[in-house]
This record gives sequence, C-alpha cells and structure tokens, in this order.
Amino acid sequence: MAMLPIIWAPDPRLKVTSEPVGEVDAAIVKLIDDMLATMYAEPGIGLSAIQIGVPKRVVVVDVARKGEEPQPLALINPVITARSSDIAVFDEGCLSLPDHWAEVERPAEIDIRFLDRAGKQQSLHADDILSRCIQHEMDHLDGILFVDHLSAVRRGIILRKLTKQKKARLRENA
Ligand code: NI
Repeated sequence: MAMLPIIWAPDPRLKVTSEPVGEVDAAIVKLIDDMLATMYAEPGIGLSAIQIGVPKRVVVVDVARKGEEPQPLALINPVITARSSDIAVFDEGCLSLPDHWAEVERPAEIDIRFLDRAGKQQSLHADDILSRCIQHEMDHLDGILFVDHLSAVRRGIILRKLTKQKKARLRENA
C-alpha cells in the first residue's frame, strides 16, 4: 500500500468527470488499497480516486469513529438509485480543501448500487454520516466540490484562500 499526495483545489483535475471502471482487476484493487492508506493517513473519512489524480469512478469511505473497528468500504461505479425527500444539513470538509468547512444541504438518506472490490454487484441504504460522505465523494466523480453547493460569493472566498494556501505550501516545499 502506498500513500499518495492529494490534489488541492483549485485544480482543473478536480473538475473532470471520472470514467467508469470496466473490469475490477488487480490494478483497481491496488488503487483501492492505496486510496484507503492515503485516507487513513490524512486522516479522512472518504476519498475519491480523482483526488489522487486517477479519473476512475472509485470511492473509499470509512465513517467508523475513533476507537471503533475500521469499516472500510470501496464503491466502484456507484449510482444513487433513490434519495429521501427529507434534507439534512451537515458541516462538510474535504481533503482537497484543507481547513475549510461549510454547511451543505443534501438528501438525508440514499440507496446506492455499486461494485465491491471483488467485482460483485451490491446495494446499500445509507443514512446519517455515511449517506453524507458517499454523496460528497460521488460528487467528486462528476467534478463537483462541496463549495459548488455554496453561493458564488462564499465559494470565491474559500477558493481564494486555498490559492494562497497552495502558494505557501509550494514555497515550503521549494
Ligand atoms: Ni472531498
């Protein structure tokens, strides 16, 4: 397993639409393992392949709390098949937008269909933080960031701060 650098916004790579996975082969399983290692190291509760520069429809999540058994979940080609009409508000963050948080409204519960790491078709009903995390990560597969759910003004403020953060990081690493 390898930890990989996470792409920070703003970056054009985070805006691309990821391609479906054709076959769940050894390369996809390795990608999943690398994504999990990267997510746990940060630490984060979700990561999409595009955040490490791979434009494939692969997501990993683990919403287990500190001290609980890990519950790693890999979603390949996930599709939302149903959304609840009730809406929840959560304070969202993102490993690609470090140190920024904002309240985002989304359907409270979802049903999804996906392939697991064995290539088997699975379905899942998700609520609470798992539902939130999966919706956030699936947005990444279509080039959507949580700030895209905010007003243009708020999005602009956060993205300008991120541009400064990136420049500072480049200077540190120079
Ligand atoms: Ni994110």
